[in-house]
Amino acid sequence: MGSGATLSRASLQRQLPLKLEALPVLPAIVSRLLRVDHAAPDAFEITELIVGGDPPLAARLLRHANSSAFSGVVPTSTLQGALSRVGIGQVLGMVDALGTSQYLTEPTEGQIRLWAHSLQTAYGARLIAQEAHVDVDPELAYLCGLLHDLGRFVLFGKNPEETLSIPGRGAAPAAIVQAERSDHGLDHADVGWLACQYWKLPDPVAFACRDHHAADTARCQSPTSVPDGLMQVIQLADRLSLVIQHVNGFLQASPRVQIATLERRCLHGVTTFDFLTTETLVGVAGTVALRTEEALSMLGLR
Ligand SMILES: [Fe+2]
Ligand SMILES: [Fe+2]
Repeated sequence: MGSGATLSRASLQRQLPLKLEALPVLPAIVSRLLRVDHAAPDAFEITELIVGGDPPLAARLLRHANSSAFSGVVPTSTLQGALSRVGIGQVLGMVDALGTSQYLTEPTEGQIRLWAHSLQTAYGARLIAQEAHVDVDPELAYLCGLLHDLGRFVLFGKNPEETLSIPGRGAAPAAIVQAERSDHGLDHADVGWLACQYWKLPDPVAFACRDHHAADTARCQSPTSVPDGLMQVIQLADRLSLVIQHVNGFLQASPRVQIATLERRCLHGVTTFDFLTTETLVGVAGTVALRTEEALSMLGLR
């Protein structure tokens, strides 16, 4: 969809089934999954690692694990829980069922940055949940971080950064959300929320999609089924990723400059955690950047 085409909630809801089914698959993910030796003692961990690098596949797995095929069990909101329920064999079956026309053989720069942003937010959320000693399961934080921008995968197809490419628009979350609303009638948080509703993804993921820009857009708070602190963890990880991607030279800067940058770009308007210092966040940023590069290589995106 190009700029200027507005999308009503009703028309998106009509298009959503096809848009979700058409979410792309990375060929490297498929070939890696095909090479997993199911008899190996670490087959489960390897499969979890592969699926956990790919937001569309992780969303499909979560949908399947929480579908009527497994009715009567409590919703699962971690990759480990979803994979235990579904089994490694069925993950391969899910991938097999996707058409090769969905293979993303020539990703655009914007798509690669969206994958990188999702991974950075996932790694950041897991590390922040661990470091901040909040009562948030780091693996839940990881999955919510990985899927928080599901709406961008659904909404923009090949050009997930089109709202950023217009001169004069910034990369700040509030500017992105505002630009999407004026270009499309809906923003990616709305779209992610509707996508989660359609696929019946569990509450923490759905509210992460809807509310991760809440500090910028003053949306309502999440219900009690979402752990206290989860949204702040996701918001902080999201902003950290934007700094890593958009602030030139951040990773090479001196600690003093890194701290000042994080205080200016990440910590305004969000509740900070007692145990999380800005110095710790600098360390988290370095680890996030390193792990994301390793994962992008695994995904065939580097
Ligand atoms: Fe977002
Ligand atoms: Fe984001």
